[in-house]
Amino acid sequence: TIAVLDFGSQYTQVIARRIRECNIYSRIFPYSVTAAELRKANVSGIILSGGPSSVLTKGSPRPDKKIFQLGVPVLGICYGLQLMGKLLGGDVAKSDRREYGRGRLTIKKKGRLLKGLPKSIKVWNSHGDKVTALPEGFEPIAGTENSDYAVIEDATRNFYGLQFHPEVVHSERGDDIIKNFLVGVCKCKQDWKMSNYVDQAIQDIRDQVGDSRVILGLSGGVDSSVAAALIHRAIGDQLTCVFVDNGLLRLRERDRVEQVFRDHFHVDLRVAKSGKRFLKALKGVTDPERKRKIIGKIFVDVFEDTVKKIGDVDFLAQGTLYPDVIESVAIDGNPAALIKSHHNVGGLPKRMKLKLLEPFRELFKDEVRALGKELGLPDEMIWRHPFPGPGLGVRVMGEIKKSYLDTLREADAILLEEMKRTGYYSKVWQAFCVFLPVQTVGVMGDERTYDYVIALRVVESVDAMTADWAHIPHDILQIISNRIINEVKGVNRVVLDISSKPPSTIEWE
Ligand code: XMP
Repeated sequence: TIAVLDFGSQYTQVIARRIRECNIYSRIFPYSVTAAELRKANVSGIILSGGPSSVLTKGSPRPDKKIFQLGVPVLGICYGLQLMGKLLGGDVAKSDRREYGRGRLTIKKKGRLLKGLPKSIKVWNSHGDKVTALPEGFEPIAGTENSDYAVIEDATRNFYGLQFHPEVVHSERGDDIIKNFLVGVCKCKQDWKMSNYVDQAIQDIRDQVGDSRVILGLSGGVDSSVAAALIHRAIGDQLTCVFVDNGLLRLRERDRVEQVFRDHFHVDLRVAKSGKRFLKALKGVTDPERKRKIIGKIFVDVFEDTVKKIGDVDFLAQGTLYPDVIESVAIDGNPAALIKSHHNVGGLPKRMKLKLLEPFRELFKDEVRALGKELGLPDEMIWRHPFPGPGLGVRVMGEIKKSYLDTLREADAILLEEMKRTGYYSKVWQAFCVFLPVQTVGVMGDERTYDYVIALRVVESVDAMTADWAHIPHDILQIISNRIINEVKGVNRVVLDISSKPPSTIEWE
């Protein structure tokens, strides 16, 4: 086990992830963990993360000094390096130049950490302080324009420090540096796998939950589906899943969730069929923000009603991922600076007085997918495109009517079918149809038609923050358009959305 001590860096989980990528097991500990606890955890190496504080500030987070006497290799990154400088007898000062972003590292001496690396590499910095005098036993290995002590080593005691962030992708060969520490210095074996993670996660869930009952809002999306499968494997029928059918789902979406979770996994699944309740509340509403708020509110009401019927429940499980956590509020004892509050975290559990169970708080999306595969979830569920909480409610423009939804569902199913058939589904970020309540004139057979418009929205993106319209071959678009107009009653025109985000957004509302 490699212990990562968290001093509140935005990148702590990224460090843990890089370690997992080397097939080595790691655990994140609060910075205040004691040396005795680390010894008990049988750690073979310790990494001190970066953090937003300055070691020069009174009361800034400090580790137990005895961790340096465990006889275990220690790597300090950024704030971690400055801590070592300060605590082991060197000197740290405010730098006259703060170093942010790209920097160039020049290697002066072949140390163990930089083994196999070229003389000069690009690195990613984010710090204001720097070490000005090395503690005894340390040697400078590499420097930047700003600091002679960007990489330092005490090869006798096995203490290492990096002023920059090797864990971020912008640092060249950062993974090699981390691997040099893990394999070259700590002598870790690279035999850890995602299946080991499943065992560990199951144990953690059992420890946390005991014999309490857990509910989980299952949406059929990747995160909640994998969470359901994992928690069910851990605690069986102590888990109840609630699926809210808000009437704004895609074709056969509820059937599919029932098939997988009730029929295949034998999960205690409660389905709240509440389409009518949603439609009633949405009647006459055209403003997109109001629609979203109403859908959100009714969802909570329905969810609460369903949970009341289940009886005593202690935990609410959520498939919150690490990127959701880092963007949300500072958690207890976590010194990370607040960046922004996230729409998926919070709200519900407070109102319902439930404790949270979030087994993926340390994971990234692709790792959750790997976990889902390991747990036997079908590929189509693991690789599903993102789908907004308000569902088709924000894909029918203006007022929502049952007939509009039915039309949209049929058109959307055709688009998805063709995207999958041609292999484009897995190449794009999202593909969906939008219903425009605009009637246009057409001619079918010899008859005049006066029907609605369907817009195709297919985008490429990495993180949904920016997106561009996907260049789908014309012959595929042609098939999609023909099929929708011929097979979906009430549609006589199909248009293609060719806007990027920004300035447009992915969804139309
Ligand atoms: P926009 O339309 O803002 O969407 O470019 C960015 C991404 O977020 C999805 N989306 C939502 N997801 N609840 C969600 O869970 C929502 O209310 C919501 N609105 C948009 C959208 O599908 C895209 O992937």
